[in-house]
Amino acid sequence: MLTGSAPRPLAEGPVAVLGAGLMGHAIAAIFAAHGHRVTCLEPDGATRESLAERVDAVIAQLPEGASLRGSVAAVGDVDELDATTALVVEAAPENLDLKRQLLAAVAQCCPVAVIATNTSVYRVGDVAADVEDRARVVGTHWWNPPHLIPLVEVVQGPDTDPAVVYGVIELLYALGKTPVHVKRDTPGFIGNRLQHALWREAMALIDEGVCDARAVDLVVRNSIGLRLSEVGPIENADYVGLDLTRAIHEYVFPALSTAQRPLPVLEAAVAAGHLGAKSGRGFLEWPEGARAATSQRLTDRVKLLTALVHPSSSVE
Ligand SMILES: NC(=O)c1ccc[n+]([C@@H]2O[C@H](COP(=O)([O-])OP(=O)(O)OC[C@H]3O[C@@H](n4cnc5c(N)ncnc54)[C@H](O)[C@@H]3O)[C@@H](O)[C@H]2O)c1
Repeated sequence: MLTGSAPRPLAEGPVAVLGAGLMGHAIAAIFAAHGHRVTCLEPDGATRESLAERVDAVIAQLPEGASLRGSVAAVGDVDELDATTALVVEAAPENLDLKRQLLAAVAQCCPVAVIATNTSVYRVGDVAADVEDRARVVGTHWWNPPHLIPLVEVVQGPDTDPAVVYGVIELLYALGKTPVHVKRDTPGFIGNRLQHALWREAMALIDEGVCDARAVDLVVRNSIGLRLSEVGPIENADYVGLDLTRAIHEYVFPALSTAQRPLPVLEAAVAAGHLGAKSGRGFLEWPEGARAATSQRLTDRVKLLTALVHPSSSVE
């Protein structure tokens, strides 16, 4: 913290959310549902104008009884943020230079705030590089949709004050989330390292001609995908036996991809303009309406699974 300025208790203070896009508006809604006064910094006028409606839509999906107990406002300029802000959540585009400049500017305008970046993969130390007082910068990696997915990874940067980490974890518990402390500042943290290890292997299988793209998803959805929300890889290794796990690793590891660059099959698709749902074709075909259908399937499944895993979850 700046010399002579006491940090405000996170549970009480105003919150600023930087960027009111896909992640930012929903994170703002969660804080507001728990009574916080939230100000979103959003440079795009149309995004600011649609904010209230989008926040209402998130509140409507929170567990029964949730309502907007706090407030959400939008501003267009960093100078308009409240100097007494206790917590800043940065949810601006995934661009390292942009995030660095934004955090440096916000650190000046909000001198007592804990600053939490929602970067998906950048090291917290890299994002905080231009902030003078890096002890108050931490990672909070929310998952989309943030009001439905319980996990928030709390990433401790090389200079983060441990008291900041524990304060943020406590706050997230109070919001009904499942915070997990990431103790080392590694790209992709825990969740995205695991997820992209799987995606690398998925694309390597296609690249090597082992199977086609549809087969990868069929295998995952009909086997490990069914297990993973109940029994994680570590419990599963214990469950089947570590001697068996060791024997499998000894035989299969040499066959697994160790690619240090995106796989050729991915490079070729991107070069051809096959960018997935948004361009109508990726590994699969995406006709009109298919993207919305997938989004609905995902939301329905996450709601179903979180109700099973967290039957008593509530925003209160
Ligand atoms: N989309 C996901 O599934 C997901 C999941 C977890 C984390 N994240 C991370 O969250 C962050 C935001 O992602 P998103 O999907 O919400 O992006 P988005 O593009 O939907 O929203 C970003 C918003 O930031 C605004 N913005 C642009 N410049 C800004 C500035 N200088 N200051 C403040 N706001 C600015 C944009 O106008 C936009 O509204 C990224 O770092 C992303 O990697 C995304």
